[in-house]
Amino acid sequence: MSEQILTQLDDGLLTVTFNRPEKKNAFTREMYEGLVSALDRAAADPGVRVILFQGSGGSFTAGNDLMDFMQDPPKGEGSPVFRFLLGLVACEKPIVAAVEGPAVGLGTTLLLHSDLVYAADTARFHLPFVNLGLVPEGASSYLLPRVVGALAANELLLLGEPFSAARALELGLVNQVVPAAELSASAKQKALALSERPLGALIEAKKLIKAGIKAPTLEAMKREGAVFVDRLTSAEAAEAFSAFFEKRKPNFKKL
Ligand code: COA
Repeated sequence: MSEQILTQLDDGLLTVTFNRPEKKNAFTREMYEGLVSALDRAAADPGVRVILFQGSGGSFTAGNDLMDFMQDPPKGEGSPVFRFLLGLVACEKPIVAAVEGPAVGLGTTLLLHSDLVYAADTARFHLPFVNLGLVPEGASSYLLPRVVGALAANELLLLGEPFSAARALELGLVNQVVPAAELSASAKQKALALSERPLGALIEAKKLIKAGIKAPTLEAMKREGAVFVDRLTSAEAAEAFSAFFEKRKPNFKKL
């Protein structure tokens, strides 16, 4: 298991910590491999009753590593990022997320696959796919309009501006916003409360809640994945990625 993905099993709770704080926990290929292993372990180990995702160093995650996108972009459904997304959809056990600081790209779409989401007042959500020359992923083109409504989803996915924890609460993307100092304890308390519930009933209830959306979620993920892979090598994406690392505003009009 990569040291950038830490796992700890305690009292039925598998805590999975994104641990690359110097890069705001941006996910590399290797980290996705670690996340896939964590989900595999959760599925196989009867001692795991609940999964808790959290970040380290005051960030949730800055989403996919943009250097990886430039140098070694995912090429299809066998890629670690896609396997992680499929693993989220397949995960039968409840997932709790504790979000503080930036939750960008997959950092926000991951929440659409979490069963309970707690945010610190410092959390800042962002779906900048279009601004990066990309398209929505993680089935967000299907799930986000269902959760927040069509127009709000357009605002978040097409304009792609960052939004606050208060806005996320208003939109129904998070269950509760708490002061940053209390986030870890509050999320853990809820996760432990879930772990006390009868696991068989929890799993069956989660299956029923997801029954109607599972197939369209998978279809959306595959549809998005095909376009996303193409967009990664577009001139628009190249301009956006270079602009990020050169710390300048991208100029798409020149393309
Ligand atoms: N990929 C690669 N490196 C990243 C990264 C990412 N997604 N997000 C942050 N980093 C790196 C920065 O390049 C910087 O590295 P450096 O110290 O070597 O210069 C370091 O992490 C800290 O980031 P910085 O931008 O200085 O922090 P900030 O607090 O000002 O802003 C974010 C934090 C998350 C808002 C900002 O880094 C950001 O927008 N990142 C890109 C997010 C993104 O577009 N993700 C892809 C979604 S598909």
